[in-house]
Amino acid sequence: MEESASLGQFIPLHYHYNMLSDTHRLQGFQEAIHAMVRPGSRVLELGGGTGVLSFFAARKASKVWCVERNPELVREARRILSRNPGAERVEVIEADAFEYLPPEPVEVVICEMIHVGMLREKQVPVLSSFKQRYREKFHAPLPLFIPEAAIQAVQPVQQSFDFSGFHAPVPLFQHPYSMQSDTKGLGEPLPYQILSYREDLPGECTWKGEVTVTEAGLLNAFRFITKNILGVVPAENRTIDWFSQYLVVPLEEPLPVERGERVTVSFFYRPGDPLETLSGSLAVMKD
Ligand SMILES: C[S@@+](CC[C@H](N)C(=O)[O-])C[C@H]1O[C@@H](n2cnc3c(N)ncnc32)[C@H](O)[C@@H]1O
Repeated sequence: MEESASLGQFIPLHYHYNMLSDTHRLQGFQEAIHAMVRPGSRVLELGGGTGVLSFFAARKASKVWCVERNPELVREARRILSRNPGAERVEVIEADAFEYLPPEPVEVVICEMIHVGMLREKQVPVLSSFKQRYREKFHAPLPLFIPEAAIQAVQPVQQSFDFSGFHAPVPLFQHPYSMQSDTKGLGEPLPYQILSYREDLPGECTWKGEVTVTEAGLLNAFRFITKNILGVVPAENRTIDWFSQYLVVPLEEPLPVERGERVTVSFFYRPGDPLETLSGSLAVMKD
């Protein structure tokens, strides 16, 4: 298989252990799964990893099919799940999520193959393929999806690329729930894409738009933000959200900007593409 096709689909085991200690991620999913999985229902998880989300689902579901393609992780998920009471209802299946369908219809599908910008990992193409094959096989309404939707935004920033005196304008990841003292926002985050997993999913993330500068500075990067709507709780009029790590992409040519100025930004990539496709297409122009 070509590297670009398998990109983001083989995550080393120690990343999975790290993902278990990301409490914002796990608590968000746990809450959404608790809110959306009805007692006795059937659940499919695509890309199960250690099996943690399938385990949350098994607290209420009668059956969970947990699909994982990496054989090392399949073994690890089975080992870990066997130590968790209730996980007997989880069946770990070694299969490709682009091909697998459960033996019977399910009420909920969980899929967390999410990278900021929907880059690298295959969340969008996997779910597009799943929906088409599910409809053909079962002629049934689509299940609920966890997450339900995502909002993607871009923000003009002035970013320090100084690393102990070493200047390196390279893409950076940031923890979305902590202060970023090396980043100065020069404008508000602007949504460039809203995707709902139950609707038709986009084949590309092309955008050209104007951002208004609210702080003078050196515009030398754009920050990409992906807010995942894990679930909607209509009774409480709220959503359960989880932000992917932010991505700061440097500009080839930094641009001094003044408050009130407008700049046009454009980029092009497809969901699942490498970061380089986004960084290579990112362009900015003063009006
Ligand atoms: C970001 S991890 C999430 C794992 C787990 N759901 C969790 O929340 O901790 C994505 C998982 O999807 C798996 N994966 C990626 N592509 C896949 C595919 N085509 N078929 C099945 N699993 C896949 C990866 O091996 C990885 O375990």
